[in-house]
Amino acid sequence: MRLHLTLDGDGPRRDRLYRALRRALLDGRLVADERLPPSRALAAELGLGRQTVVEAYERLIAEGFLAARTGSGTFVARLNLPVSRESGPTAGAGPGPHWRTPATWGEVRLGGYNFAGGVTDPALLPWPAWRRAVQRALRDQAADTTLYGDPVGQPALRAGIADYLGYSRGLPCRPESVLVTQGAQQGLDLLARVRVGPGDLVAVEEPGYPPARAVFEQRGATVVGVPVDEQGVCVDRIPERATLVYVTPSHQFPLGMPLSLSRRLALLERANRHDWLIVEDDYDGEYRFEGRPLEALKSLDRDQRVAYLGTFSKVLHPALRLGYVVMPEGLRQALTGARRLADGYGGDLNQRALAHLIGQGDFARHLQRMQRIYQRRRDALREALAVHPERWRPLPALAGIHLAVRLRDPAPDWRRRLATADATVLALDDFYQGEAPPGLLLGFGALPDSAVGPGVGALARALGTPPGG
Ligand SMILES: Cc1ncc(COP(=O)(O)O)c(C=O)c1O
Repeated sequence: MRLHLTLDGDGPRRDRLYRALRRALLDGRLVADERLPPSRALAAELGLGRQTVVEAYERLIAEGFLAARTGSGTFVARLNLPVSRESGPTAGAGPGPHWRTPATWGEVRLGGYNFAGGVTDPALLPWPAWRRAVQRALRDQAADTTLYGDPVGQPALRAGIADYLGYSRGLPCRPESVLVTQGAQQGLDLLARVRVGPGDLVAVEEPGYPPARAVFEQRGATVVGVPVDEQGVCVDRIPERATLVYVTPSHQFPLGMPLSLSRRLALLERANRHDWLIVEDDYDGEYRFEGRPLEALKSLDRDQRVAYLGTFSKVLHPALRLGYVVMPEGLRQALTGARRLADGYGGDLNQRALAHLIGQGDFARHLQRMQRIYQRRRDALREALAVHPERWRPLPALAGIHLAVRLRDPAPDWRRRLATADATVLALDDFYQGEAPPGLLLGFGALPDSAVGPGVGALARALGTPPGG
């Protein structure tokens, strides 16, 4: 046997030889039943004393890596070691097993005019009020002698959310039904855990929100996309066999239309008939710009079929990681248990602070202000888009902080052209599983009013100019 051993690292030579042999065993360079060189021969080859080799062998024999067979020498034991002949010699440097990575977004290139979808403007947050709220929360926390929090959230915040949903979303709800989560994303994850398993069928909108699809896929479900038209998701196309149906009724993500009332009623009726859980993701329904909005789907839910998901990511800041689920009665226990298993309970300080922000009226004032500011930005965006009717057709934008446009007769290489624009912008492709019609998602939350026109100009120019042209 020619065994190449490198005695690197620190410590006595006996230990370095031991480590080198062990690496060779774990890497699979020495395999079961292989005979090791006699101690004298290896010692001579490596320029070591024989006793050094004997001690290294003895240690590996004691650990079960090697076996001594009287009269015939030292052999590699039959251990079924998890070895790979391809992996590198350093522990932890091999590629390791390949776990499935859920697909969510393509890469977002940041820079220039910021049209990133659904992103808010941190400069407009009510920082002084938040500072006061956090200070109060710190005082409360210091005075609280309980050790662990409640998996469903801080009582004051649950009450504040229930109250807010009543006046803002026409959704009467009791604090006991509110589960405070780490963003809407954890709400989705918990709902999937209690309701979706391998082989189940989950229906989502096509186009739709990639992180939702990914959560269900990771549970082993078959996820089917249901087409969307100008009235929202085509309810009659949802397969009967679905266990869960994920929808965005207030502001379809990403196209923007609300789900019509007749479709809402049909959805609830079918959910009852086929025993579906409906997940209503109301991620930015607070911002609405024209007429009286349709209230939350959950407000029509007499049969406890709808789990309502909300988030503070769009109304305050995504870094808060605060969202909530209004739990259908039948899932309260299961969701509470799932939350306990997932992470025990949520960050206490942020929850207390947010409860104060709501309780003091600062949150409602902030929302009213943002509503005015975002309305201005949306109007500015629509005006700027109207300057280039040959480039695109904006879809109606009655709510939220983004809008979608369909491109008109784009050049075949429009995606490459778009990439040259001095702007952060997503093509609608990212939200389709199948073929996507050419289009863009334009967020207007983080773009100051004065930048809207120039930003749209930059997009129009890039789309009209061949790269390098
Ligand atoms: C459709 C949709 N749902 C939910 C969210 C919010 O997720 P989270 O509360 O986890 O930040 C977003 C944010 O981009 C979204 O676009």
